[in-house]
Amino acid sequence: MVSTGAGISAESGIKTFRDADGLWENYPVMQVASADGFRRDPELVHKFYNQRRRDLLKAVPNGAHKALVELEKDYDVYVITQNVDDLHERAGSSHVLHLHGELMKIRSVSDPDYIESLDIDHLETTPATRGRNGDLMRPHIVFFQEPVPNIEKAVDLVRRADIFVVIGTSLVVYPAAGLIQYVRPGTPIYYIDPNPASTAGIPGVHVIKEKATDGMKTLARMLYEKR
Ligand code: APR
Repeated sequence: MVSTGAGISAESGIKTFRDADGLWENYPVMQVASADGFRRDPELVHKFYNQRRRDLLKAVPNGAHKALVELEKDYDVYVITQNVDDLHERAGSSHVLHLHGELMKIRSVSDPDYIESLDIDHLETTPATRGRNGDLMRPHIVFFQEPVPNIEKAVDLVRRADIFVVIGTSLVVYPAAGLIQYVRPGTPIYYIDPNPASTAGIPGVHVIKEKATDGMKTLARMLYEKR
């Protein structure tokens, strides 16, 4: 089981949230990524996600995304990501569970189960954007102040993990940050991050203090030495 955050996409040129010059340094998070913010100014929120889609178009999966696909040759790899980019999918990962939504999708404002994929030449949305079913649509993003529908599925996956890998997350946003607590006792945990958050109190964590692309090479070496 692999839990990824913004850090795994950093080497693809996508800004993280809380590093220097990160997204939340340049945008007021509660205005562009919260339920209140969306109610107050939906136009601003649509514009914010339109900009992030334009940035995503310029990005490609990096060596870390690809290394996770490589691991599928010898392991059942399930990716649980906080990221809304589609780089894991574009790299070829077979199992990707998004906790915070997906940038390249929009959903009905009135029916959260009605979701459409955006096609490459219609990435811009506004509060007036309608789906094929006629509903007004919004970014398919889990805003702050909204529930995380996939968290139960994620907890179930982590509970069944033989190995738990955390890559590129500051471990500050719950419930995603709490997933690490659900691994069975004795499950090896690897945490790849050049500036790792404290994992004090969580037994058995091997911290690999490297960028994701280098850290994945170190992880692969550690895993294959054990086989
Ligand atoms: N390789 C690996 N990790 C990296 C790299 C890199 N090249 N560059 C930065 N990092 C690490 C940082 O050290 C940090 O620990 O990635 C992490 C990024 O942390 P955040 O910016 O907080 O991103 P994340 O943890 O994914 O944020 C969680 O917050 O705003 C919400 O919904 C948003 O999903 C997001 C959530």
